[in-house]
Amino acid sequence: MEQSKGRRVIIFPLPFQGHINSMLELANVLHSRGFSITIIHTRFNSLNPSTLNPHFTYHSIPVDFSETEAASRDPKGFLYLLNVRCVEPFRECLVGLLSDDVKLEGPVACLISDTLLHFTRPIAESFKLPRILLDVSCATNFAVLAAFPLLKEKGYLPIQDSRLEEVITELSPIKVKDLPKAPGSDPENYYQLAIQVSNEPKSSYGLILNTFEDLEGHALARIRRHLPNVPIFPIGPFHKCCRTISSSSSLLAQDQSCISWLNTQAPKSVVYVSFGSIIQIEKDQFFEIAWGLANSNQPFLWVVRPGLVNGLDWLEALPNGFLEALNGRAYIVKWAPQKEVLAHLAVGAFWTHNGWNSTMESICEGVPMICTPGYIEQMLIARNVSDVWKVGLQLEHGIERGEVERTIRRLMVEKEGEEIKERSLKLMEKANRCLKEGGSSYQYWDGLAKHILSL
Ligand code: UDX
Repeated sequence: MEQSKGRRVIIFPLPFQGHINSMLELANVLHSRGFSITIIHTRFNSLNPSTLNPHFTYHSIPVDFSETEAASRDPKGFLYLLNVRCVEPFRECLVGLLSDDVKLEGPVACLISDTLLHFTRPIAESFKLPRILLDVSCATNFAVLAAFPLLKEKGYLPIQDSRLEEVITELSPIKVKDLPKAPGSDPENYYQLAIQVSNEPKSSYGLILNTFEDLEGHALARIRRHLPNVPIFPIGPFHKCCRTISSSSSLLAQDQSCISWLNTQAPKSVVYVSFGSIIQIEKDQFFEIAWGLANSNQPFLWVVRPGLVNGLDWLEALPNGFLEALNGRAYIVKWAPQKEVLAHLAVGAFWTHNGWNSTMESICEGVPMICTPGYIEQMLIARNVSDVWKVGLQLEHGIERGEVERTIRRLMVEKEGEEIKERSLKLMEKANRCLKEGGSSYQYWDGLAKHILSL
């Protein structure tokens, strides 16, 4: 891709771990294809350039949040604030970046920003800067958000408790209870957010998704019908596209000691447990998880992020001697090098909240999943895992120690688990294949590079 040398792309991620990881992986691949990369990031959840790709340039903009605002459990309220507070600092940053001096670093081809940062549209337009969007979640989520008006018309929305278990005929096997929602968010507000997000690409120069045709072909077809004039680039799995760069966009320190512990465990024996970077659980759920894992008799590696359990600092509520009684069968860390963990031979299953990054990372290593989705689009992802790709089992009725124990046994010990493991390996092969020459994501990557150069 020699001809793209010197073309600069400005990248603006939403300042949350899952969004940052996807955006920086995308940036790494673009860089490996000859694009120069400028990252704009907020002071809130600020990036640490010393741990990131040294070939990028980084610009921090003065956007902050108080501790109370950052701890908000209302994503829509937080997004609103973010979209207001970023306007002026972002505009000023762009003025600097697009000024004549900086142009000497190479002309800017486009801005790539997160679909949730809708404030970037009028600003990019005012600078005549083409804007491409990255939606960091799955295509299924985008397609379902685009179907919200239909779901309202058919009476599935607003969600009624009496219909939670009903399969939505138009989106089978998705059930009413799987529809995206946010805790504490008024259903009408969430509906408006869905409409806004799903229509945002109409005023953009393209939509990038971290998925691949063989995984979400139906959802991608729906998106193309919804956005007939917008180029769609399903170019995932991002983190497997570019093996040369070793950089970490982790906001928390990754505890490498768990890899040494994994080295002492039998192949495919360990259940890795992590619920991502945002979700909070209640104390009673924490105990059910702990006892379910303990009673399963399988070794487990558990990420208990500080703040994961509402009202607790860390592990202080675990009974005295809980870990010791497990005789080395358990290892707990505050944050793990997750991709390395999932690629480790000792890991046999991933108990996940089904954030999209975690799910893709699991798929790419052929690790079967146990699913306890929390909110927003995680229920949709879990439905795909359990009922469409059939590479995992869902805890459908909340977290209860008996069900946890039974589910781990079904996956790790029983015949049903063997079949799920086989399907997981086949799906992993498809993920690998789409990135090879001639594969769908490989071709869309070429298409994206040409598209950026044509802007
Ligand atoms: C959330 C949603 O769940 C996700 O679907 C949405 O699109 C973005 O917001 P998050 O909770 O962060 O994201 O989950 P996920 O998307 O899975 O991302 C977590 C990232 O943190 C993954 O890339 C994972 O590898 C990393 N991680 C997680 C670690 O590096 N160490 C850990 O211990 C846990």
